[in-house]
Amino acid sequence: MDEPLEDLADHFSRIANRYDDKHGSEEKPIYNACATLVTEHANPGPDDVVLDLGTGTGLIGLALAKDAGHVVGRDVSDGMIEQARSKAADRGLENVEFGYGEFRDPHYDGEVDVVVSNFALHHLPDEEKREAIEAIADLGPRRFVLGDAMFFGSPDPEEPLFSHGVDGATVGMLVDILTDVGFVVTEVERVHDQVGVLVAERSDEEPVYDPQEDQ
Ligand SMILES: C[S@@+](CC[C@H](N)C(=O)[O-])C[C@H]1O[C@@H](n2cnc3c(N)ncnc32)[C@H](O)[C@@H]1O
Repeated sequence: MDEPLEDLADHFSRIANRYDDKHGSEEKPIYNACATLVTEHANPGPDDVVLDLGTGTGLIGLALAKDAGHVVGRDVSDGMIEQARSKAADRGLENVEFGYGEFRDPHYDGEVDVVVSNFALHHLPDEEKREAIEAIADLGPRRFVLGDAMFFGSPDPEEPLFSHGVDGATVGMLVDILTDVGFVVTEVERVHDQVGVLVAERSDEEPVYDPQEDQ
C-alpha cells in the first residue's frame, strides 16, 4: 500500500464515527466471523496484558477486556482512538487504554502476553508486514492472533472482495514470517478465500540439532 500513513490515519479519522456501521452486506458476515475467531483464539487469562494493534474503534480489545487483566489498544488514527475511548467509557471499562501506536512502533514498553490484530495489517506493504511482525515478536507475547485479508489461493483480480485499501499477503508468506521470527503457527482458520485468522504461539523449545540431517 503506497498511501502515506498520515493520509490513511486521516481517512480513518474522517469515517471514525460511522466506522462501526460501514461494512457492506457482502463484507459484514466475513468481517464478523473473522473478529469472532480472533476474539476466541486470543483467549486471555485474568492476569494477561493484551495488545490490540490497529485497534480502530476497539472492537477486539473491548471484547477481550472482560477476560483479560489489562487491554492496550493502539492505532494511528486519532478519530478511531477517540471512538474506542468513548465506547470504553460507555461500558464502564477501567482496564483498557487506547492511544497512538504504529505496528512497527506500538508506543508501549510494558509486558505483553497476547497480541491481537484484526483487519489492519493489510494496510502495510509486504516488506513492512515483515517489520511489523518482527516488532511484535520483540515484545515477547506468548501468542499472536492475526485476523486479516490473506490469500489462500490466487485471488481473481476481477472479483476482489474488498474494493480498496487492501494489500493482502498470501497465507504462506505470513506463516513464513511468523515462523522466521520464532512463532509456531498452531491454527489456520479460513474464513473466505481472501480472509483468514492465524494463531501463532511462542516456541520455547530450542531447535533440536540432528547431525543425521547433515549427512
Ligand atoms: C479496517 S480498520 C480495523 C479496526 C479494528 N481492528 C476492527 O477490527 O474493527 C484498520 C485500522 O488500522 C489502523 N492502521 C492502519 N495502519 C496502521 C499502522 N501502520 N499502525 C497501526 N494502526 C494502523 C487504521 O487507522 C484503522 O483504525
